[in-house]
Amino acid sequence: LQPVIILAIETSCDETSVAVVKDGNEVLSNIISSQIETHRAFGGVVPEVASRKHVEVMTLVIEEAMSAANVTPEDLTAIAVTQGPGLVGALLVGVVAAKSLALAWNKPLIGTHHIAGHIYANRLVAELQYPCMTLVVSGGHTELVHMEQEGRFNIVGRTRDDAVGEAYDKVARALGFPYPGGPHVDRLAREAEEAVTLPRVWLEPDSYDFSFSGLKSAVLNVVNQSKMKGLTPDVAGIARGFQESVVEVLVEKAVRAVRANSAKQLLLCGGVAANKGLREALTARCEKEGIELIVPPPVYCTDNAAMIGAAAYVKWKHEGGIPLDMVADPGFSL
Ligand code: KG4
Ligand code: ZN
Repeated sequence: LQPVIILAIETSCDETSVAVVKDGNEVLSNIISSQIETHRAFGGVVPEVASRKHVEVMTLVIEEAMSAANVTPEDLTAIAVTQGPGLVGALLVGVVAAKSLALAWNKPLIGTHHIAGHIYANRLVAELQYPCMTLVVSGGHTELVHMEQEGRFNIVGRTRDDAVGEAYDKVARALGFPYPGGPHVDRLAREAEEAVTLPRVWLEPDSYDFSFSGLKSAVLNVVNQSKMKGLTPDVAGIARGFQESVVEVLVEKAVRAVRANSAKQLLLCGGVAANKGLREALTARCEKEGIELIVPPPVYCTDNAAMIGAAAYVKWKHEGGIPLDMVADPGFSL
């Protein structure tokens, strides 16, 4: 049987990434060029700047991924790219690059969903068993996705306001840390001796939805009240209180969703899956409940093209390629 070797491109936000993935689970190369240093000065990702940076490094990153994987264009089965969701100008750079390669090398094109990519990052580390439940926690998304079978996604819960990563970044900013603040809050939370008490937002008793904007406002209130009294806010205590609130709600709802849908596995993915507090709490809870938990290593949690290669393989298997007139779609649905 011929191996399926996919060149995958990811440019939906602020990482330019290209990977070569064999049979959907063997990463031959995964090059990630991050723009974080550039955006830090602005306190967040500036879309126009992101597009320009993608253009600057796109061809270099493609060359590096091809040579690190030690493959030639003839070895490739298809070219895959993140079609959406994401920043439209950023997506466009990857889509144009992928179309150009598909045309020049006469290869089929696969349009991939960014969240399908995050979910299938788990395919790189374990054999998935269906039905499974995925907790997606990134800078742009917070969702519980049920998969009855491979390639079928059913969103059973989602955030009604901020994504969890977005809440982390805003709280970090209020506590005086640079973008992206998630890792700083994670570290502080672990150093704190005591947690500042903050609310848990559960919504309706049977809901799998999330809401983090109230928690974020509660943090801002605590910080402002300290400042008004001329006191230094208890930065570590606030970080710990915030992280405990977020983790408790995420873990509880994920476990409930697993039970309600008789899922065989719980998968974790997205940038916030790199959070040590969340990984530890979810691991402990799943062990106690006898739930098989899969968590990719951090490099496959934050944005990368290897996960796009994994998702593209599944799409290729079920649907094959798509016409070259496909367009980047910032609102692409799963
Ligand atoms: O998945 P990702 O790389 O990009 C999106 O598709 O959004 O996620 C980035 C997000 C940022 O909000 C960042 O602060 C957060 O993931 N993040 C973390 C940690 N590492 C990254 N949040 C909490 N704890 C961490 N250790
Ligand atoms: Zn992402």
